Amino acid sequence: MRIDIITVVPDLLTSPFSHSIMKRAQSRGLLEVHTHNLRDHTPYKQGQVDDYQFGGGAGMVMMPEPLAILLDKLKEERNYDEVIYMTPDGERFEQKIANRLSIKENLIIICGHYKGIDERIREHYVTKEISIGDYVLSGGELAAAVVVDAIGRLIPGVLNDETSALFDSFQDGLLAPPVYTRPADFRGWKVPEILLCGDPKKIDVWRHEEALKRTAERRPELLEDHEE
Ligand code: ADE
Repeated sequence: MRIDIITVVPDLLTSPFSHSIMKRAQSRGLLEVHTHNLRDHTPYKQGQVDDYQFGGGAGMVMMPEPLAILLDKLKEERNYDEVIYMTPDGERFEQKIANRLSIKENLIIICGHYKGIDERIREHYVTKEISIGDYVLSGGELAAAVVVDAIGRLIPGVLNDETSALFDSFQDGLLAPPVYTRPADFRGWKVPEILLCGDPKKIDVWRHEEALKRTAERRPELLEDHEE
């Protein structure tokens, strides 16, 4: 999968993909992340990419021309499955969306800044608008990093244990059960006996029950959509 990210603060996007699982995804050739500095594509002087809003009001708006120039260039080079715009008024990002996006070949992600991007780019280029939650960040970069991380780890071959993403919270509609590691007795706090019994079937049943219990306690609304 190739992801092209359009930003005015490329530095914000160097570190998130240089470590751990995202680093491995790229070194295995399963994920390519290309960051584009919008200022390198503006026809205006001094790298201008934003301007005052028509109609007045506080806050600048990202101009359509630099975005259109860069988007046209990218789209000439290859076909993109989606042009995603990160915005607090987009669709709420959930595991379901990550699953769907993880099987795509080419994605563009536009990070908004200031008051956001000119509406005409949303109308004519953007195919999907994503919010990572009901709060406003100072730009779309951190939100884009969240989305790329959530998608990237789902690409087949990225996680070492292919099955492990299947047991993530939300993947089966439930929160994940509790997990324990050594020592079995830490300061007198003991690991549940069943995890030491050596019977994988019994352990699976216990884990499923714990997942149901935790979901019922913390996120009961998830159980409405959950199918046994
Ligand atoms: N840009 C600013 N806030 C955001 C949010 N909550 N989700 C996605 N993009 C954003």
